[in-house]
Amino acid sequence: MKGFFKSSIGKKLIMSVTGCFLILFLTFHMCMNFVAVISAEGYNKVCEFLGTNWYALVGTAILALGFVFHIVYATILTIQNRKARGNDRYDDQNLPAGVEWSSKNMFILGAIVLLGLGLHFCQFWAKMMFAELAGCEDAVPAGFATEGWTNAATDGAAWIKYYFSNWVIVLIYLVWFAALWLHLNHGFWSMFQTVGFSNDKWLPRLKTISTVYTTILMLGFAAVVIAGFIQGSGC
Ligand code: HEM
Repeated sequence: MKGFFKSSIGKKLIMSVTGCFLILFLTFHMCMNFVAVISAEGYNKVCEFLGTNWYALVGTAILALGFVFHIVYATILTIQNRKARGNDRYDDQNLPAGVEWSSKNMFILGAIVLLGLGLHFCQFWAKMMFAELAGCEDAVPAGFATEGWTNAATDGAAWIKYYFSNWVIVLIYLVWFAALWLHLNHGFWSMFQTVGFSNDKWLPRLKTISTVYTTILMLGFAAVVIAGFIQGSGC
């Protein structure tokens, strides 16, 4: 067992399985957030449901934990590998010269993703889930609250309008999504390759599926940001 965790394939497998959590979490999160583009009240109802339903909380926590494990493990592996032999990611992997830019830069892309996530947590998670759990709710800034809605911790639509009314935040989020797109795009097909589900015929197909899937995911998130900007800034 110890040998498995030390082997290159073992490490990649752990990265792949935990990366799967990341993809699942993002799929769920994007679908949930997209509701805000259609209806502010509908979105708040989803936030309210997720904030008070223990099954949803536990489900989110498990996905988020897999996600965090993926990030922490990637950091440990990269530090170990860099110490051992320069910039290579995995012990026995020699990447060919023409390999994609995103493949060589998974760690730096991951770091940008992490920085964006830190900002995102301070903005949304702290004002909503954390505020609700800790019982220290902040009022939504004047002019942004959803009509008829009194609970700021579940007024996600208002927080979206408030934060994305600022074009600098919009720009930061779009850069964050671009980094996430590059990171996921590589990670998605490489995950299948790691578990052995890939050959000359399937690799190009998996790459296409991966590009299409991650593009839909990121466009969905970007649509929420743009809609928030339009609604929040009154454009
Ligand atoms: C348009 C973009 C996004 C919006 C509007 C958004 C909105 C939110 C909101 C409202 C919450 C708090 C949910 C609650 O308390 O019920 C949240 C939490 C969270 N977000 Fe996002 N999010 C976006 C993109 C992302 C992306 C791209 C990631 C990951 C890279 C992400 C990761 C998380 C995580 C891990 C949490 C904490 C767990 C949870 O509450 O579900 N979010 N987000």
